[in-house]
Amino acid sequence: MAMTRKQIQALTRFAGETARGAGEILRKGLNRRHQINYKGRIDPVTEVDIKSERYIITQILKRFPDHAVLAEEGSGSNKKADFRWIIDPLDGTVNYAHGFPFYCVSIGLEYQGEILAGVVYDPERDELFHAARGMGAFLNKKRITVTSEKKLQRALLATGFGYNVGTARKNNLGLFSRMVKKAQAVRRPGSAAIDLCWLAAGRLDGFWEFYLHPWDTAAAVVIIEEAGGTVSRIDGRPYSVFSKDIMASNTVLHPVLRKALTGK
Ligand code: IPD
Ligand code: CA
Ligand code: CA
Repeated sequence: MAMTRKQIQALTRFAGETARGAGEILRKGLNRRHQINYKGRIDPVTEVDIKSERYIITQILKRFPDHAVLAEEGSGSNKKADFRWIIDPLDGTVNYAHGFPFYCVSIGLEYQGEILAGVVYDPERDELFHAARGMGAFLNKKRITVTSEKKLQRALLATGFGYNVGTARKNNLGLFSRMVKKAQAVRRPGSAAIDLCWLAAGRLDGFWEFYLHPWDTAAAVVIIEEAGGTVSRIDGRPYSVFSKDIMASNTVLHPVLRKALTGK
């Protein structure tokens, strides 16, 4: 069954309202004392991650009981369905746990295996990034587009390091130092979903990272593509949310970024 524009817009609006609701939970909880558990050596989860995820899933299943859900903190369902919501209830948990106000909620919607729509909400700036396939990308009500920067030396890039940075073969540290010398500057803001949306909004020119998860990128990928950007694997192969690495850019910089990162 093909979806109509109206149906897709209604789903995107619902996702935006849900992300705003969850964002409110995050914003209110920021400077409270947190109960922190560790999923790995440095991989934290707070009670607010869990609260936000519960809120989002309750909203979704109340409205769409037959939809599937893939959520970072493990709630949700494994059922087979045309629609699957891919959720990061709090992207930027390390920042959040320290009271460093750079974090967001990310909700992507897949339909028959393809990302149809995505929303990323940053409660600190009241910025809702949203896009639906074929309908453009927006920051609140304003249309957004990527930059037209062509030179790496003038480009502002962002990246990140997985929680496995202490042990992983591709720990990104070598590439990070190489790119710092080639670009105008490289940031490590700490919320991949916001980083990618800032690229869509023209605040960054390029991004790469290893070992991200589907919930970090599902929403932002469609936002970047609808803003005129390009997303691929670092070696240029097509990206899926299950890929082990990602490279995103304003499109003109894509081959330049690939050459700088891979030498090819
Ligand atoms: C993390 C953030 C961070 C990225 C990590 C992610 P989390 O997500 O997006 O920027 O570098 O790789 O795991 O754990 O805060 O949801
Ligand atoms: Ca995340
Ligand atoms: Ca998270």
